[in-house]
Amino acid sequence: MTTGTTVDVPQQTSGAVRSHGPIAKLFHWGFIAVFAYAITKQLTDVGQLADPALLRFEIAFAALFLLLLAARYVFMRWTRPSALPDDTPAWMKRAARAGHLAMYGSLAMIAISGLMIGGLYSTGVVAGPVMGLALALHEASVAASYLFIGLHIAAALVHRLKGDGIWSSMVPVLRERHP
Ligand code: HEM
Repeated sequence: MTTGTTVDVPQQTSGAVRSHGPIAKLFHWGFIAVFAYAITKQLTDVGQLADPALLRFEIAFAALFLLLLAARYVFMRWTRPSALPDDTPAWMKRAARAGHLAMYGSLAMIAISGLMIGGLYSTGVVAGPVMGLALALHEASVAASYLFIGLHIAAALVHRLKGDGIWSSMVPVLRERHP
């Protein structure tokens, strides 16, 4: 609820912004650290998987990434899927949900296609059309995740400019002033 230039961020009242709890925040920011690590350590060539230790690590990491993402998704659905107040227009709620699902979907596809590549490589399929398809899917998922995360950050910044409290429900810096 906006009052002049300040923003009230109450808990669980109809029409009010709901602040995310500590576990939701830990999932959000902790997962970003895992995602950043995955992006910085990415392989540049499928031939690198010839190293059995690296192949094992990549498969284990992709499985863990998928598990963490699933745990986060289940937690957010069971608890509080959005900070948006109850009286938010339906189209905006749908857009926010679609954006979140697009992020979850593209992030999950990165790990699933990574597991496909690892599985194929482990069974001796190191090249060919099926491996080509898995690699293309992997690259497309990474590109899609950048796009959806970019849109998500842009939307979060718009909320911050509006000062409606959504930003402060998740982000610990540049918070709106409380009355
Ligand atoms: C500086 C970067 C980021 C900012 C400022 C930010 C901000 C926010 C805010 C304010 C919310 C709450 C929205 C609401 O409750 O309706 C949120 C939720 C969410 N954020 Fe971010 N975010 C950032 C980066 C990311 C990244 C990199 C990812 C994915 C890897 C991500 C994934 C999500 C998801 C999926 C949700 C929905 C809640 C959930 O289901 O977990 N965010 N974010």
